[in-house]
Amino acid sequence: MDKIVISGGKPLRGDIHVSGAKNAALPILAATLLSKEDHILYGVPKLMDVETIQRLLCSMGADIKEEGDACLIRVKAIKSCEAPYESVKTMRAAILVLGPLLARCGEAHVSLPGGCAIGPRPIQMHLAGLEKMGAVISIEHGVIHAKARRLSGAHVYFDLPTVTGTENLMSAAVLAEGETVLDNAACEPEVVDLARFLNGCGARIHGAGTERITITGVSSLGGGSYRVMPDRIEAGTFMVAAAITRGELAILECDPAYLVSVIDKLQDTGATVTEGKDFMVVKGAPAHKKIRSVDIKTLPYPGFPTDMQAQMMALMAISDGLSVITETIFEGRFNHVAELRRMGAEIRLEGSHAFIKGVSSLSGAPVMASDLRASAALILAGLIAQGETDISRIYHLDRGYAKIEDKLSQVGASIQRVKEVI
Ligand code: EPU
Repeated sequence: MDKIVISGGKPLRGDIHVSGAKNAALPILAATLLSKEDHILYGVPKLMDVETIQRLLCSMGADIKEEGDACLIRVKAIKSCEAPYESVKTMRAAILVLGPLLARCGEAHVSLPGGCAIGPRPIQMHLAGLEKMGAVISIEHGVIHAKARRLSGAHVYFDLPTVTGTENLMSAAVLAEGETVLDNAACEPEVVDLARFLNGCGARIHGAGTERITITGVSSLGGGSYRVMPDRIEAGTFMVAAAITRGELAILECDPAYLVSVIDKLQDTGATVTEGKDFMVVKGAPAHKKIRSVDIKTLPYPGFPTDMQAQMMALMAISDGLSVITETIFEGRFNHVAELRRMGAEIRLEGSHAFIKGVSSLSGAPVMASDLRASAALILAGLIAQGETDISRIYHLDRGYAKIEDKLSQVGASIQRVKEVI
């Protein structure tokens, strides 16, 4: 197994490129199941989760080729409507095939995702929405069996805004009979990206990015070419990398409009952020100035993203004063706390709150990645820790960050991937 080794203390400087968004690419790839025509996708990031969903799509009949930056996909016929446990247990987002499969084939058999490192993560809202659209659903031996001759439009209200739930139902509704209204829908930019992709294929979706999405069903979808949006969480992680190392990074090919909450909080810590149309320059506070502590509460978009909570905690660990981070989306998303403590951070947990008392420096230590964003937080902490930080179990990192060690070493980090000797 690989590990990441970092020698901390080097300010990062230079240009760093953002890849396409994992959480936009996954639902878009799943939605290619809706049509038998050719799709050309650009900007699909090279990540483990993307490979997992591509393998799953191939098992269902997709023909996928990579040509440079382009991913060519055609699902001429569906040969299997099953997403086995092997795919779902490595990547919960495999649930995103449920809506498209059901809409295209009238049936789907998808292994039910279990809990994961960041919490229980139920999917009852996906299932209830599909039932409202006429699907007959049963769960047997850990598998969701869904059937519907043709889904019909319905009015669905989500008790909580769910990102993949909104995406699953939006994709399913595209081929349903009549109009579907999704209320209290997730407003995340990745939902908007999926809607743009689907509309480019002939779908009729209005209101994506607001709490009410209206979808008028069509009888079939075409193909087309589409560029996946940049990854706002990768961009946000690089923003914190500039701030924590007191360096200066030009973060290229990103969309600052989707990062308003992160920009605002980073500015409050003393970093300077200059925004362009598709880039940002982030300059950390100078060495003689303290990094100010800020309080953060994670919320659905446009609130502060839960996927940036761990990274901001790494920054708060070396801030001046006390900061309170409240996690409202996932109940178990504090796995990084124990590892940050091993590096000298002073963090106390009380329910969904983390109280962080900033310390003047962190010290490098062997630590273990427990989930994707926790891994990113440990890298950020390693970048400023005194001495060496060894991060093991980095397969979590590989699920969501494309070549992060190459990108960071090109801007001055001393970071490398090494084979772990067991
Ligand atoms: N929820 C339910 N029932 C449901 C669905 C969700 O109770 O049927 C709850 C969840 O337990 C959670 C809240 O609703 O408390 C929001 O969860 P959501 O469904 O929005 O999360 P998700 O769709 O499973 C996506 C991202 C996550 C990101 C969250 C929140 C993808 C593939 N995953 O997950 O990304 O944290 O939205 O923004 O888009 C990551 O990239 O590291 C990651 C975990």
